Amino acid sequence: MKLEHCSLLSHNTFGIDVAARCFLEYNSAEELGRLIADRQITEPYLHIGSGSNLLFTKDYDGVILHSRIGGIEVIDETDESVWVRVGAGVVWDDFVAYCVAQGWYGAENLSIIPGEVGASAVQNIGAYGVEVKDLITVVETMNMRGEIVSYPVEACAYAYRDSLFKRSDMKDVFVIYVCFRLSKIERYTLNYGTILQELENHPNVTLEAVRQSIIAIRDSKLPDPHVVGNAGSFFMNPVVSRAQFEPLQRQYPRMPFYEVSENKVKIPAGWMIDQCGWKGKALGAAAVHDKQALVLVNLGGATGADVIALSDAVRASVCEKFGIDIHPEVNIV
Ligand code: EPU
Repeated sequence: MKLEHCSLLSHNTFGIDVAARCFLEYNSAEELGRLIADRQITEPYLHIGSGSNLLFTKDYDGVILHSRIGGIEVIDETDESVWVRVGAGVVWDDFVAYCVAQGWYGAENLSIIPGEVGASAVQNIGAYGVEVKDLITVVETMNMRGEIVSYPVEACAYAYRDSLFKRSDMKDVFVIYVCFRLSKIERYTLNYGTILQELENHPNVTLEAVRQSIIAIRDSKLPDPHVVGNAGSFFMNPVVSRAQFEPLQRQYPRMPFYEVSENKVKIPAGWMIDQCGWKGKALGAAAVHDKQALVLVNLGGATGADVIALSDAVRASVCEKFGIDIHPEVNIV
């Protein structure tokens, strides 16, 4: 499908009203190959998933590409594990729901994260102690020469919300399929935040109970993008050295933190923003969410510039109070 001068309003969960010169959607790897061969994909271009981690600041004078490659196919199976190959355009949570229904363990903590499978592998989505890199085995891509190249997970340079595919020199590499390994043996990751507490509402710990608990926790904190525009966490949680962390911890003994390595500690940016008094505060049509300060929301009609102005003000406060520069997690276009 090709649309000229296309509104992007329904293609970004922040609900920013901008347009693209051209919007191209393809249903298969072969169709993507044809678009490349026919030179339909001209510079500048940008591949998007469901636009749940994007902030548009202006009209896009180029080609926006969107994959609709579908399918969830079992490619191998043992008594312990199952390997599945999933199209980049599959809605992430449809895949999680499928795994839970099949009795495959591993993806349930990533329930109802917005977005699609291709973008999940680019962004290394994560929640409640699990990152998608823990499940990925291979990422299949097509480049702008039409070549198919598969990257084993070890080659994907996965880190916190980061991967090889986010590097600027990988801009012409498009994810077409992602292969995952799930466990057929019962195992859960339950030691994060309030999961165990939430599970007390269920008679037994089952895959479905864990999924429902995660959904309940997320629903209680994160705004529904269908109701109020947002892109989930706006900032990344900063990772600081222990030398920087220790004096802060003395000053703020109740500051939550996660150990990253012997010398590194991750501090929740949401907590710091909250401490700065930003929770629920608005600047123009953009606001800090009143239940989770890491999330910025569009109160209605906000422009990308409104959100950036709020983000800059929040960053300046955090830097002034804690001496830490926080960085956006969303892609600003
Ligand atoms: N906190 C506050 N006030 C706030 C927000 C958080 O005090 O307004 C405190 C919480 O009480 C908790 C800590 O900060 O002690 C961490 O909060 P939370 O568990 O809600 O998680 P987060 O660090 O703010 C990260 C991810 C989320 C993911 C959750 C759960 C990032 C950038 N965000 O948020 O991912 O769902 O952990 O694992 O790493 C996303 O990436 O879009 C996203 C929603």
